[in-house]
Amino acid sequence: MSTLAYLKSFFKDKDVASVTPTSRFCVRTVCRPIDFSKDITVVEYGAGAGVFSHYLLDHMTANSQLHLFETNAILFEKLQQIDDPRTMFYDQSVEYVSELLPEHIRGHVDFIISGIPFSFLDAGVKSSILDQSYKFLRDGGEFLAYQTSGHLEEPLRETFGNVKTSWEWRNIPPMTVYESTKE
Ligand SMILES: C[S@@+](CC[C@H](N)C(=O)[O-])C[C@H]1O[C@@H](n2cnc3c(N)ncnc32)[C@H](O)[C@@H]1O
Repeated sequence: MSTLAYLKSFFKDKDVASVTPTSRFCVRTVCRPIDFSKDITVVEYGAGAGVFSHYLLDHMTANSQLHLFETNAILFEKLQQIDDPRTMFYDQSVEYVSELLPEHIRGHVDFIISGIPFSFLDAGVKSSILDQSYKFLRDGGEFLAYQTSGHLEEPLRETFGNVKTSWEWRNIPPMTVYESTKE
């Protein structure tokens, strides 16, 4: 059913950038660095219909928290079907993430997971989103991203000073997976 929601959204909204949800293989690869045995705070950029969100909620502890950002109205409606007290929803762009997230989690976020199409953003917006993300992560927190190409490597290295990449071909289209740590 999610694929239909993606198809409908994709033709009306270029920012959706995908005609199908991310595969379970890619979800697992992106989430591999997460230690689910601890209470964690996770922020997801571009949650879509919730394929990562469901995976995260299935694995997170009862006291963990998940903040979900999604700008497409059709996908956001589907996302909001998640009925879980650990979840907070934001239907606005992550360009304004530091104004939208609660102040008390600044510097305490364990992981940010991002699937938004960074290649559509101009350099200033891209670096603003990465800078805001850096400030919200705790020391040792990680920015995990998946993109259809390797274009995010340089901006991540500029903001975080480090980036590891891998390739997940079991997805349509194949994805470059990024991991940067706030050191
Ligand atoms: C490639 S899709 C990924 C969707 C989902 N996470 C998945 O893995 O199937 C990118 C998503 O980011 C959303 N998006 C794009 N730009 C955004 C922005 N500036 N703020 C929040 N969401 C955004 C799109 O609407 C779309 O749902």
